[in-house]
Amino acid sequence: MMSEIEGAANWVAEARSVVVLTGAGMSAESSVPTFRDAQTGLWERFEPEQLATEEAFRANTSLVWSWYVWRSILIDAAEPNAGHEAIGSWQKHLAATGGFLTVATQNVDDLHERGGADGVLHLHGALQNYRCLDCNTPVAYDSRSAAIRPGQEFDDDNLLDPVTCSHCATGVLRPGVVWFGERLPEDVFSSAVHAVQHADLVVVVGTSGLVQPAASLPIIGQEADAKVIEINPVPTGLSNTADVYLQSTAAATLPRVLNRLLA
Ligand code: APR
Repeated sequence: MMSEIEGAANWVAEARSVVVLTGAGMSAESSVPTFRDAQTGLWERFEPEQLATEEAFRANTSLVWSWYVWRSILIDAAEPNAGHEAIGSWQKHLAATGGFLTVATQNVDDLHERGGADGVLHLHGALQNYRCLDCNTPVAYDSRSAAIRPGQEFDDDNLLDPVTCSHCATGVLRPGVVWFGERLPEDVFSSAVHAVQHADLVVVVGTSGLVQPAASLPIIGQEADAKVIEINPVPTGLSNTADVYLQSTAAATLPRVLNRLLA
């Protein structure tokens, strides 16, 4: 893979307008399980697709609320990995030399921001942006107030009560994520489309590429003459069409590909 890393490093060194598209694999080495990893504990009984919907939340409010608080605690306890930090440094390097780097992520965690990236486009929302399910008012909520230890398992007897909206006092809080069946935030997605249409390099990291419309972004970039590099230890539907496919992990590969540029 050395020559491929070299090839990727050359494109990285030359790129002036970059988009980094990430999925759950980007946070895997920060101990945040990916969406399609096998779930553990109580959550083993459910596919994420069964929990990440408004219908599921309305039907099993305590169960779905507990799942999101559990994930939020896990994310709070996680640290950005070397891949997050390499992307943050790359963005700063480009900004300082007249270039531009946009991070567009499907992840609802804040690890890109904590790894130094600014202006992150959260295509599927952000977990900690809680709002009222009924009146839609954004409401601050600190999941640490739920007094759960990171990784503490749930069972049917210790599910959390949902939190009542402090604004309308009738609705309950929901996480600021895009649930299955919901539309992506239009302004965020159109910013991501604009970015890939004007990129000379698109780096796709840690996504199975199974969920539209996020999965279309690398193709839109390629159609606008951007080079595409994919980083994923498991081949995906993009791997055969990417200009370079690096079969490795985010935290191992991004620092190597950026090493020469950031040295
Ligand atoms: N480095 C890079 N990639 C990794 C790593 C790693 N350390 N570990 C796993 N991966 C890859 C897996 O091989 C897989 O291709 O990350 C990908 C994770 O895929 P998914 O779990 O499907 O996550 P993602 O692609 O982000 O899912 C997209 O689907 O369920 C919805 O809204 C949800 O945002 C999510 C969307």
